[in-house]
Amino acid sequence: MARRLGLALATCLFLGFGAAAEAQPQAVKPPANDDCLACHGDPDAKRENGTSIGLDDKVFAASTHGPLACVDCHKDLATLQEFPHPEKLAKVACATCHDDEGAKYHDSIHSWAKEKAGLTAAAPACADCHGKHDIRGRDDATARVFRANIPATCGACHTGVLDQYKTGIHATTRAVGNDKAPVCIDCHTAHDIRRTDTDASRLGVTAQCGTCHAESMRTYRDTFHGQVTRLGFVQVATCADCHGAHDIFPKADARSMVSASNRVTTCRKCHADANDNFAQYDPHADRHDKARSASLYYTGKFMDGLLMTVFGLFGIHTALWLARGLRERGRAKK
Ligand code: HEC
Ligand code: HEC
Ligand code: HEC
Ligand code: HEC
Ligand code: HEC
Ligand code: HEC
Ligand code: HEC
Ligand code: HEC
Ligand code: HEC
Repeated sequence: MARRLGLALATCLFLGFGAAAEAQPQAVKPPANDDCLACHGDPDAKRENGTSIGLDDKVFAASTHGPLACVDCHKDLATLQEFPHPEKLAKVACATCHDDEGAKYHDSIHSWAKEKAGLTAAAPACADCHGKHDIRGRDDATARVFRANIPATCGACHTGVLDQYKTGIHATTRAVGNDKAPVCIDCHTAHDIRRTDTDASRLGVTAQCGTCHAESMRTYRDTFHGQVTRLGFVQVATCADCHGAHDIFPKADARSMVSASNRVTTCRKCHADANDNFAQYDPHADRHDKARSASLYYTGKFMDGLLMTVFGLFGIHTALWLARGLRERGRAKK
């Protein structure tokens, strides 16, 4: 919608420009793509220093921006009247047309790293994740942002994380065709990526785990750790504190942080004097599941029984008082 508005605005400006052009017949048309391709159409064209200034017209034409003019993005050449053009040109501002993504990106760690922290070369701009002249929509299997390609796209910079992620259950189950398992953006988003050490981010990721692991989320919420995080405090354990973030394994796998051999160590990250006995506590105890949590199940049933008895007796007691009260009042009236 916002993009449509942007395009509509661009069209208005264009029409305004057209009207002005009619009034002044000598005004020049913006350069056509073919003008640019005369010098840039050879994919092997290079600057003197050897860096590429060439592009493959066919690849560009087949990309999602194929219908655009070169100068729609390279705007500072839109009014160029004569070649050659200046050596240094302005950076392309994708957000002029994609303001939704632009606004989200602007709030994200990547934009901060780029603009404020001075990691200019290291942090990604739109083109690092999407490409320049070969951009495709996310449903296109050749797009850098096609679901299956996202770990590689992010992993181009976050190599250490990618290596961990590749070993974990989420990647290995994806590799055998389970498309339900998460890629980077399911936990981090694509454009609204935040620092991971903030409370908001920790709560956010926990909520994300829960969108797929609804049962684990339900039982976690019933426990102490879950109750406290529900209130917005994150000092207690979130999913990732006990399971890891990128190298998550099933509990039967010895590498899992909750495997029989690693569990005490995991609890000790926060409960310094935890022992085997302490680690027996089930962070996903389910008081409705007799097989899984027998003592909790029977305690729960006992508490339910106690509650019923108390309320039952109390109810009868109140009913009897009511009957008696009415009778007394009737008698007083007489
Ligand atoms: C007469 C040949 C010629 C034509 C026509 C031409 N360019 Fe260039 N362009 C060059 C050369 C040469 C460079 C490399 C300048 C340098 O040494 O850095 C360049 C560089 C660029 C750059 C990189 C600028 C930068 O800051 O690094 C862009 C973007 C570009 N051209 C876009 C265009 C567009 C869009 C058109 C059409 C409107 C166009 N060019 C037409 C020769 C041409
Ligand atoms: C969707 C926007 C978009 C369109 C349309 C587009 N470009 Fe680019 N172009 C970019 C981006 C992004 C860069 C990377 C530099 C930057 O960020 O400004 C770039 C860089 C370039 C460069 C510098 C060499 C390089 O690869 O970094 C040249 C030359 C160039 N473009 C030519 C063209 C020509 C010719 C056309 C039309 C056939 C065109 N561009 C259309 C976005 C675009
Ligand atoms: C002059 C306006 C304009 C600029 C500048 C522009 N785009 Fe686009 N972009 C479009 C239009 C129009 C579409 C096609 C929208 C559609 O088909 O719904 C599009 C489509 C896309 C898509 C695919 C979305 C989809 O729905 O298929 C992506 C991704 C994208 N652009 C990223 C970029 C990036 C990254 C840049 C900067 C390098 C950029 N765009 C610059 C106008 C622009
Ligand atoms: C860190 C990598 C990254 C950066 C930086 C980034 N994007 Fe994206 N973008 C993605 C991913 C991944 C997706 C796919 C999201 C999904 O599948 O939900 C996406 C989706 C999109 C789409 C929708 C594509 C479609 O097919 O519907 C547009 C448009 C877009 N981005 C534009 C931009 C613009 C404009 C910028 C810069 C302001 C930008 N992106 C910066 C990774 C990035
Ligand atoms: C299942 C959810 C999930 C997935 C999938 C995921 N992450 Fe993370 N990521 C997290 C959590 C949670 C943290 C915080 C870790 C912590 O606090 O120890 C994190 C931390 C990070 C960090 C901060 C540095 C670090 O190592 O702690 C980066 C960078 C990162 N992730 C990138 C990625 C990339 C790239 C991918 C895809 C290859 C990815 N993540 C996939 C949940 C996820
Ligand atoms: C061009 C390189 C590059 C690409 C591509 C890239 N990142 Fe980043 N990313 C960075 C840099 C640089 C930082 C900021 C430095 C830092 O604090 O680690 C960063 C920071 C992050 C953080 C915050 C780390 C923290 O310390 O809390 C996360 C999470 C993250 N990126 C995830 C992603 C995801 C997900 C993708 C893909 C959709 C992606 N990145 C693509 C370079 C990149
Ligand atoms: C987009 C959905 C999705 C998200 C988000 C997600 N997972 Fe998973 N997870 C899966 C799928 C699919 C499997 C493969 C096993 C299966 O089919 O249950 C899996 C497997 C696991 C396993 C191994 C146990 C088992 O049942 O095989 C654990 C532990 C796990 N995830 C924890 C987490 C944690 C912790 C988070 C958040 C940091 C998280 N997951 C986020 C979908 C997801
Ligand atoms: C205090 C630590 C802790 C927290 C917090 C925690 N878990 Fe667990 N999780 C465990 C332990 C320990 C097990 C193994 C329980 C058992 O023995 O069956 C487990 C089991 C699981 C399993 C099944 C693993 C398998 O291989 O069968 C999944 C899936 C899971 N947790 C997901 C989550 C999600 C999602 C969250 C957050 C909503 C979460 N966990 C929070 C410790 C934790
Ligand atoms: C990220 C830190 C963290 C991790 C990891 C963690 N806990 Fe906790 N847990 C807390 C905090 C903080 C409290 C509340 C303060 C307290 O009572 O110690 C708490 C409270 C508890 C409580 C209730 C209060 C009590 O002490 O009786 C139990 C039971 C518990 N944790 C069990 C576990 C078990 C079992 C593990 C390992 C599977 C574990 N926790 C891992 C932080 C953590």
